[in-house]
Amino acid sequence: QIYYNATLYNQTPIASTNFDRLEASAKLLLPATAYNYAAGGAGLEKTVAANREAFDLWRIIPQVMHDVSPQRNLSTSLFGRRLPAPVVMAPVGVQTLFHPTGERATAKVFGEMGLPYTLSTATSTGFADVAKANGNNPRWYQLYWPSDDDLTRSYLRSAKQNGYEVLVVTVDTWDLGWRTRDLDQGFFPFIRGIGVQIGLEDACAHEKLGFNPLAPNATAEQQQMAALYHVITTSRGISPVWRNLTKLRDWWGDRPIVLKGIQSVVDAVKAVEYGMDGIIISNHGGRQIDGAIGSLEALPAIVEAVKGKITIGFDGGIRSGADIFKVIALGADFVQLGRPILWGLALQGEKGVRHVLKSLLAEFDLTVGLSGCHELGDVNSTLLKAR
Ligand code: FNR
Repeated sequence: QIYYNATLYNQTPIASTNFDRLEASAKLLLPATAYNYAAGGAGLEKTVAANREAFDLWRIIPQVMHDVSPQRNLSTSLFGRRLPAPVVMAPVGVQTLFHPTGERATAKVFGEMGLPYTLSTATSTGFADVAKANGNNPRWYQLYWPSDDDLTRSYLRSAKQNGYEVLVVTVDTWDLGWRTRDLDQGFFPFIRGIGVQIGLEDACAHEKLGFNPLAPNATAEQQQMAALYHVITTSRGISPVWRNLTKLRDWWGDRPIVLKGIQSVVDAVKAVEYGMDGIIISNHGGRQIDGAIGSLEALPAIVEAVKGKITIGFDGGIRSGADIFKVIALGADFVQLGRPILWGLALQGEKGVRHVLKSLLAEFDLTVGLSGCHELGDVNSTLLKAR
């Protein structure tokens, strides 16, 4: 469509189809604090770089003259849902930092495309509003697992009531990484997001603060205090432990549970032993441990150990359709998109998100076809060569 419009109507694309260029445009537009919060990582940002470098370690070996045209079949089944492609929105907090429409816009566009949307615990829009924007489409809830059981249960209750089907438990961010850009700019996004941040009401009820920080008459100090309570009582500083997964299972019931932030084969095997339904191989976009391995480096060994026993998701550094191809060829069942979606959101709200998502899907589809594959089952590691 983009080629067609350019040729026939002399229309250039509304935003770049190259996500490095898209990021450069978003950087010009966004406040420096928001841009640095999203683009940055832990420490010297070696792991942010490693996530990209890991993709360069693999090259695609295309095969030709297969009967793959005109339309490929990229569909797959994930947690009982048939999806048009193995692509999911990664949980990303406080999206109104990037555009006033925030989570509503991203949830709407992923819904339109029939692809799962993951709502973050650190959202700047509530469960119900996001569900409304998302419509009757698959949506997941990402939990920063509070150390307070009542609070955890209240999150899970709200998620269930609002139709979130899969619980994604982020296990790598029980304390924030050493994020040098945010430290240098004195920026703490969760406090910026207060007032609209869900869970505050619950947090305050549990902490018996005696006020509702979301009420119209709540003072700025009350909101600030609530946000601090929220942050302290939710996920900061206390690591979740494996044995407590049985509690989450009791509370969430038989709906799927996925652990996000797995990098070690040992942990992937444990996730199977603990009866989890899925894992997401992720280093949080390089935002937690500087010097951690690139996400794609972790994939092959984990696939070898647990493929077929548990659903395997992946995120970290995906910037093109060819990247998605490599992840699927190496054996992941689905990928999650992070920063590129945010750049689209920042530049043009809903329209920008649609542009990024459609561009990535189109390039993935082309890569599948031009490599000689017709469907996802054809995309395997015989089409890759390690450098
Ligand atoms: C994140 N990520 C994240 N993960 C999570 O489990 N809960 C969250 O609230 C957030 N918030 C968040 C904010 C921002 C601004 C970024 C960039 C990332 C991590 C996210 O889900 C995913 O793991 C990474 O974004 C993947 O890396 P790339 O593809 O963005 O480089």
